[in-house]
Amino acid sequence: MAEAKAPQRGGYAEEVSAERLAEIGLRFEVDGEIATIALDRPSKRNAQTFATWAALADIGGNLPEQVRIVVVKGEGPSFSAGIDLQMFTPEGVPGQGSFSSAARLDTTAFEQRIRTFQQGFLWLRRPEIVSIAAVHGHAIGAGFQLALACDLRIVADDVKFCMKEPAMGLVPDLTGTKPLVELVGLAKAIDICLTARTVLADEAMRIGLAERVVAPGDLAGAVQDKIAELLSTNRDAAAATKRLLQGARARTLEEQSAAEGAEQAQRLKALFG
Ligand code: CAA
Repeated sequence: MAEAKAPQRGGYAEEVSAERLAEIGLRFEVDGEIATIALDRPSKRNAQTFATWAALADIGGNLPEQVRIVVVKGEGPSFSAGIDLQMFTPEGVPGQGSFSSAARLDTTAFEQRIRTFQQGFLWLRRPEIVSIAAVHGHAIGAGFQLALACDLRIVADDVKFCMKEPAMGLVPDLTGTKPLVELVGLAKAIDICLTARTVLADEAMRIGLAERVVAPGDLAGAVQDKIAELLSTNRDAAAATKRLLQGARARTLEEQSAAEGAEQAQRLKALFG
């Protein structure tokens, strides 16, 4: 199957209103070059629904041009307890249906549905932005995958990552498997996913899942420090460099060297042309 393309800026007709986001359990704020997405359904441990993923896609599709940094965080005791388990009941979440109704779709329609949900995650990798997941407490299933969708993960020392899907008879399908393998390697990814065990902060740091571990009270400050560092570099050079780094694994050394030259020619033209 061809890889799903991340939605581009402006690719969505409508922005979701703050009121609608609040109903879904999300907050979205933009302060200059920094956008913050808060999972804001703490009483349900920021459990995610179909509407969460559609709204994330809308946010990505309508991200203001000036934004360079996107922070994803969770309110309350957990980053996210994953999919709302009510989605697996026959009645589902009011107004959103359920997996049992979705499962009655034919395979092509169901796969298309999943690809739509994945759009909520894929845009976080766009070269023009750097996405940072600020993760504390539980990051389970879809919560773990949302953290994996971001470029960087700064975590509190109470973090608990768990890829629970295989324990529930499912696979992780919200774009998390590729970044997980790229971050920790195939053997460790198999270990983490096929046991559905919990990865704590020390291990997350050791295996490359987390860039930094701090006390829960220091998480917001650590994210701010990283943002300041990231904003200290040239915006267009940062985007071009991210493009190069993202493409590096799929290219040969020769191809990558050529790509470096092509990007640099553009940079020099922009700076001195
Ligand atoms: N869906 C719906 N409600 C959830 C939820 C979830 N995933 N996780 C927690 N909640 C609700 C609880 O039902 C409870 O609600 P009430 O107060 O109305 O009873 C409330 O949030 C608080 O939960 P707990 O009392 O359990 O809180 P805790 O702090 O003791 O435990 C937890 C937190 C370990 C995350 C625990 O709630 C838990 O195990 N949750 C379920 C996690 C899970 O199995 N998620 C699915 C992962 S698979 C996935 O995400 C897959 C996919 O995409 C297909």
